Amino acid sequence: MERAIVILAAGRGERMNSETPKVMHKIAGAPMIMHTLRTAKSLDPDRIIVITGYGAERVEQEISELEPEIDFVRQIEQKGTGHAVKCAEKMLKNFTGNTLILYGDVPFISPDTLELLIEEKESGTDLVVLGFKSKHPGNYGRLIIENDQLISIIEAKDATTEQLKITLCNSGVLYTENKILFQLLSNITNENANQEYYLTDIVEAAKDQNLSIKVVCCDEAETLGINTRSELSSAEHTFQIRARERIIENGVTLSQPETTYFSFDTEIGREACIGPNVVFGPGVTIESGAEILPFCHLEGCHISKGAQIGPFARLRPGTELSEDVKVGNFVEIKNSTISAKSKINHLSYIGDTTIGENSNIGAGTITCNYDGISKHITEIGNDVFIGSNTLLVAPVSVGDNSMTASGTIVTESIPSGNLAIGRVKQVNKPGYVKKLVALLKSKKKSKDN
Ligand code: UD1
Ligand code: MG
Repeated sequence: MERAIVILAAGRGERMNSETPKVMHKIAGAPMIMHTLRTAKSLDPDRIIVITGYGAERVEQEISELEPEIDFVRQIEQKGTGHAVKCAEKMLKNFTGNTLILYGDVPFISPDTLELLIEEKESGTDLVVLGFKSKHPGNYGRLIIENDQLISIIEAKDATTEQLKITLCNSGVLYTENKILFQLLSNITNENANQEYYLTDIVEAAKDQNLSIKVVCCDEAETLGINTRSELSSAEHTFQIRARERIIENGVTLSQPETTYFSFDTEIGREACIGPNVVFGPGVTIESGAEILPFCHLEGCHISKGAQIGPFARLRPGTELSEDVKVGNFVEIKNSTISAKSKINHLSYIGDTTIGENSNIGAGTITCNYDGISKHITEIGNDVFIGSNTLLVAPVSVGDNSMTASGTIVTESIPSGNLAIGRVKQVNKPGYVKKLVALLKSKKKSKDN
């Protein structure tokens, strides 16, 4: 059966104390709503609709850049979760499948849990609600169950003291047939403490129509919603703990896991080794057997088998390292491709550059890629030896099997097999130290007198 997913993301998130719409705050390098979208996409739905409101333009633009096939509906005034879902009615008018409701600020619900909801629906239940047990149910809506059926969800604000004692809570996530969802929504009112249209009220409407309603439970950690900056940092913490566990289980060595920080999309192959204090920004893929030594910062790069990076290396977006490349300490690489077995071992900046196979880049080499207005390219061939402290003033190319003398400033391309020397010629003056010292001393003496 076809499936649609509606993600609510219209709320401002006042308690974040921020100009940024809540769902755009980042967890592991991605706006929190991208985590929900990822889970949503893993179910391979026919369509995904995000309900935007506060900061809609920004939210829509940023999501579309990353996920162009998502549809948006704006909820101009935030009149409650039920009203938010209703905003998608027009778009889903002729949709004959099932619809799942998710939230942009509840990022950690797992695809496995959602599969349980789907299974329950497929077994014949009309409306399935995701619940969880909480020791501190606080403001969560309470699930009222009778004879194995959910009969009502009571919002904390509207609950009696007796009902507040219930520990089975509403996650907000639910799954039902699209047609039933909007038919039930047409029955709800805003007669409650908040004067809002509560999505949760569809449960009683469903009960009145003798539909079967069941609760599927998950761990409270999955339903963690983010309302404050403090919850945002706890969410980051939770993400990192899970990412470390998952990556270790995949056969990667993390020598001190609690000091390694991953992005939402970090991919690391089996048998890779990651030293302490390594930070992965978005867009990093590392193949099997690569080794990242301590204190590296990596972002938007691909590292092939057998490569060794660091300690203290910084790889920036667009860096592509082939097999067995070595990048050593205090090396920064940006938008560059380094072919197999080449080495950049110490204190270098390589930007907008291609380096062939088996080339050696000496300590202190800088590609001068920026003239203050535009960026320029450096091309270095195979089996090249770049002497220490070479400046390559781009655009410039260095042919195969060529060499630069240490301290050379390369301003013209170097043909294959050539040695380029471009440095001030040295002159040795015999016995000159003694003469110079005497001269300086006598100058000092006359000044002191
Ligand atoms: C909701 C549930 C509650 C549940 C809790 C779980 C209702 C009435 N209550 O309460 O039972 O325990 O979530 O976290 O559904 N939103 C919109 N438009 C609106 C209102 C809300 O898009 O007009 C979005 C918010 O951005 C947020 C989500 O819906 O992502 C939930 O809204 P929120 O106001 O946080 O509901 P809760 O009071 O937490
Ligand atoms: Mg909430």
